Amino acid sequence: MGDMHLLLDPAAAATADRPVAALDVHTLRARFPVLAQRINGAPLAYLDNAATTQTPLDVLAAMTAFEQHDRANIHRGVHTLSQRATDAFEGARATLKRFVGARQGHELVFTSGTTDALNLVAQGLSSIGVEPAFLRPGDQIIVSGLEHHANLVPWQQAARRCGATLTILRPDAQGQLHRDDLARLLTPRTRVFALTACANATGTRPAYEALLALAADAGALTVLDAAQAAAHGTPDIGTLACDLMAFSGHKMYGPMGTGALVGRRAALERLVPLRFGGDMVQWVSYDEASFAELPARLEGGTPNVAGAIGMAAAAVFIDQVGRAAIDEHVAGLRAHAAQALARIDGLTLLATESTESAIVSFVADGVHPHDIGTLLDERGIAVRTGHHCAQPLIEHLGRGPTTRASFALYNTHDEVERLAAGVADALRVLR
Ligand SMILES: Cc1ncc(COP(=O)(O)O)c(C=O)c1O
Repeated sequence: MGDMHLLLDPAAAATADRPVAALDVHTLRARFPVLAQRINGAPLAYLDNAATTQTPLDVLAAMTAFEQHDRANIHRGVHTLSQRATDAFEGARATLKRFVGARQGHELVFTSGTTDALNLVAQGLSSIGVEPAFLRPGDQIIVSGLEHHANLVPWQQAARRCGATLTILRPDAQGQLHRDDLARLLTPRTRVFALTACANATGTRPAYEALLALAADAGALTVLDAAQAAAHGTPDIGTLACDLMAFSGHKMYGPMGTGALVGRRAALERLVPLRFGGDMVQWVSYDEASFAELPARLEGGTPNVAGAIGMAAAAVFIDQVGRAAIDEHVAGLRAHAAQALARIDGLTLLATESTESAIVSFVADGVHPHDIGTLLDERGIAVRTGHHCAQPLIEHLGRGPTTRASFALYNTHDEVERLAAGVADALRVLR
């Protein structure tokens, strides 16, 4: 991280009774070369961070160092490069475990992202012909109604495979989940409860701590989708009633195509592997095989070693910048955006109460979000428009597609002002 120590005054670092030091956003931005460009003649304002964050030089340097000096396949080699690559890969695992608060009884499995991790869980619990089966006909899976398709469709498939029932914990008309509603749904047959730490389509931040605890008390295996929470407000799996948690590297300043499933060893051990083959076996005959211990057992084939190293470098970067400072900064940007957008006539913000998220999602009377997004792009402002892979939630809220701006540590209040002015002008033109 080189000169990162210059970015924050250590004397002013956050403690329980001292304020959090503000980020030096302009110095930080210099670490993200992609941001220093003009789009359609205007400086890029990248506000699509819920889809993918940009990655800093620190992450790129860690990956390049591996590719230039240590690249080799892991675990199987006795030669020096293979040993170095193995050490770097296992070091990345240890870093990421620390990052999410994993304790001794936890393990972390590398995946290609949150989608991959959640498929590993849903398929791993619903494999047919495995004794004792985790999910049986008549069992119940509860999934919240806030979910990205990645934490819904795999459960639909799992329920179908096993004859289990899929029940949705429906949010209210504002998109809020309620503990009492979950209490009413839980039965002795509830085997799984899956929930997001932050709804990507609306920015709703459910009280996941309490909801997970309630489901766990009722005997369910609990699954948390932390894709939108890994980069800020990072859940601490060590203190949650959470068996398994999934997150993506590319949403936390890391490389694309990376992710992790972290969880209690006992829960991970229940998962039937998704990928059978090299590196995940103990011994193999022509007729059968026995499988390796965790985590190798769930990581068949050659993993994305540079990606794992980059993802760990991203976690280190976040910690060096300072989690509390990042959380405060993105919450400030969101509050500013919510306030500025709320002043625009005929514009409705979703999840207005979600002050802890970094997302503002809105609809405008009589105007299609794609048109707003296109006009914003003409001013160099990148936002996302559509259903955000959460079509059931958007429909449940009685909304069509939305425009979504989402913030990261490198965004500025000036960019928020440009967003609000751009939206106001777009609505004038489109109406
Ligand atoms: C809440 C949530 N879950 C899951 C995903 C899927 O993540 P990935 O595409 O990295 O697998 C996303 C991506 O936007 C998301 O926002």
